[in-house]
Amino acid sequence: MKHSDLNLFKERGEKITCLTAYDSSIAKLIDDCGVDVVLIGDSLGMVIQGEKNTRSVTMQDMLYHTEIVSNSCQQALVIADMPFQSYDSSEMAIINAQNLVIAGADMVKIEGGHEHEEVFRALSSNNINICGHLGLQPQMVTESSEYKIQGKDESSAELILSDALLLESLGISTLVLECIPSTLAKEVSTKLKIPTIGIGAGKDCDGQVLVCYDMLGITSGKLPRFVRNFVSTEGTIPLAISAFVKEVKAGTFPSTSESY
Ligand code: KIV
Repeated sequence: MKHSDLNLFKERGEKITCLTAYDSSIAKLIDDCGVDVVLIGDSLGMVIQGEKNTRSVTMQDMLYHTEIVSNSCQQALVIADMPFQSYDSSEMAIINAQNLVIAGADMVKIEGGHEHEEVFRALSSNNINICGHLGLQPQMVTESSEYKIQGKDESSAELILSDALLLESLGISTLVLECIPSTLAKEVSTKLKIPTIGIGAGKDCDGQVLVCYDMLGITSGKLPRFVRNFVSTEGTIPLAISAFVKEVKAGTFPSTSESY
């Protein structure tokens, strides 16, 4: 799939499906089940490496997982996360993003908004396809802070909307919205021409993403309300992934009780 195809989904009102993958076997299954986008998320810091947050993930980790996942994807668009501190300057961002593309990524994902304006500009002018990420930004979560819903008050909601419009004007191809009220996600999705992909952002985003280990029931501990364990209802991993695709396309995932 080409990055520009994501716009066609929005134009024809078809929801985009996205799951994370970190290894070849799961990536192949996800690709075979017709998931549109595979994300090599830096959530691998938690689900693969057992860390408390994503901040210790390195470029070396991302290059390794991007290469093995992209080698197993025939049809899905492959997005790779730029890890914490890998885009502290425009020069560093360009080199790191180009290396992720060489490893097989069709697009790179960067957390944050106006504070990285120069980085977004630099990547766009170097023809790197970019996915933005607003709302909850996991790279900002430290040992002493929490994963919590963003954009609940008027000023933070306005900032998310203005950052989204800014990133679109800077050339991003798609935008992940994480853990924000459904009403705000709907407003952002309506005002943007590019598609939004939500996680904990309600059913009105243009697509949905989940961490594969969460929706396969592998992650232990208390999970956020937006996670549905598809294996518990479907029985096997391929059936669970296919059910995720079916429910997202039909607009039945996430439900109201799985949203904020
Ligand atoms: O790293 C990741 O898995 C992500 C998703 C939560 C969108 O960024």
